[in-house]
Amino acid sequence: MKKFSVVIAGGGSTFTPGIVLMLLENQHRFPLKEIKFYDNDGARQEVIAEACRILLKEKAPEIAFSYGTDPKAAFSEVDFVMAHIRVGKYPMREQDEKIPLRHGVVGQETCGPGGIAYGMRSIGGVLELVDYMEQYSPNAWMLNYSNPAAIVAEATRRLRPNAKILNICDMPIGIEGRMAQIAGLKSRKEMRVRYYGLNHFGWWTRIEDLAGNDLMPTIKEHVARHGYVPNSASHAEASWNDTFAKARDVWALDPDTLPNTYLKYYLYPDYVVAHTNPEHTRANEVMEHREKQVFSACRAIVKAGHSEAGELEIDEHASYIVDLATAIAFNTQERMLLIVPNRGAISNFDPEAMVEIPCLVGSSGPEPLQVGNIPLFQQGLMGQQVAVEKLVVEAWVERSYQKLWQAITLSKTVPSASVAKAILDDLVAANKDYWPPLQ
Ligand code: NAD
Ligand code: G6P
Ligand code: MN
Repeated sequence: MKKFSVVIAGGGSTFTPGIVLMLLENQHRFPLKEIKFYDNDGARQEVIAEACRILLKEKAPEIAFSYGTDPKAAFSEVDFVMAHIRVGKYPMREQDEKIPLRHGVVGQETCGPGGIAYGMRSIGGVLELVDYMEQYSPNAWMLNYSNPAAIVAEATRRLRPNAKILNICDMPIGIEGRMAQIAGLKSRKEMRVRYYGLNHFGWWTRIEDLAGNDLMPTIKEHVARHGYVPNSASHAEASWNDTFAKARDVWALDPDTLPNTYLKYYLYPDYVVAHTNPEHTRANEVMEHREKQVFSACRAIVKAGHSEAGELEIDEHASYIVDLATAIAFNTQERMLLIVPNRGAISNFDPEAMVEIPCLVGSSGPEPLQVGNIPLFQQGLMGQQVAVEKLVVEAWVERSYQKLWQAITLSKTVPSASVAKAILDDLVAANKDYWPPLQ
């Protein structure tokens, strides 16, 4: 069986150890000869990388491992780039969340003004990775889950239309895991779904088991009462649990479908703002918990010289990354939800929008499946949100303050152009080291 070389871009990510463990667990179907890490923050990456070096030496000494900040060394001779960078890291995520909240608006990593601000930082970072890949390993594929995926995907569609980049999100996978549990199935792989929307903005229209039986009625009955909180104990943190529970009210708006949890930010922004502490947001929770936990586990492993010394958890959700890599590597034609150009898949929607829909994935890339017409409610919401995403990319390309103001004004989370302008001015100041200068 052929063996592959991958570079993980954003090697210093809190998700890197979980992804390495997941790659190790999947050696039978996606065998590796080399793993490299790349990050532009060498000190942050070193902690994670030295711990992963120990892990790899213990569990798979045959896999070569290296890490660094030099793009040429990192991107040369690889088959896949797995990208999860966060330009500006958690301190900027904190700003993305807290600045809109100061103006009474949803403060969220990928939705509303926070997501727009993050998009303005991410576009350049992700394009740089695409360019390194094309320069040093022109046959490689990039599997990108750097956020905000919707804006990043629109930027690559516009600016690198021929790049071999696939944008993907784990939220539908997490929700489908819960749906499977609700329907009494062992795994989401025992379901076949139809779904359409934008990233963090979509709906399931059909869920069946592999025999073709409709599972929607059972799942809906549960969602109508508990959202996506399953009956048995769930491991989710409190803030995530609220999001899964709130899916009940999101669902109520269109009982024909089942919604992505992220729609709560657009459909119930008043509720979200009222239930957020503007002094302590998700970024603070993540810094206090996941980041602290992962980095102290890595430091303990490095100090002791063996992996028993720190607890690193495998990222089970991330097996979709292996599914995607094997689909390309071995032409599996697996059916997966990807963020791809619409090009008529949703017939009554902008052909030039990046949409999240089922695709068959093989060695030549994704083949999107036909969705057909969508209802007016979804068409209206999606049209507005796609315009926001396109305006952000245009603002980035043209360095346009005006277009960014329009983008923020158009976001369904923002009540008026004056509030949009006040938020934008604060975001400009906070992002001066990251955004292109606007005129
Ligand atoms: P993190 O801050 O812990 O890690 C990100 C790493 O990227 C940092 O080490 C940082 O130094 C590095 N980085 C920043 N800019 C870079 C650049 N220009 N070049 C190279 N490296 C750079 O963040 P995290 O919470 O672990 O998340 C990582 C990313 O994965 C985020 O974008 C997050 O939103 C995304 N994510 C996406 C999904 C999805 O569903 N698509 C799921 C989980 C996480
Ligand atoms: C889900 C989404 C990601 C997002 C993440 C945030 O997985 O699909 O796009 O980055 O949640 O999780 P966090 O724990 O960092 O708030
Ligand atoms: Mn996502």
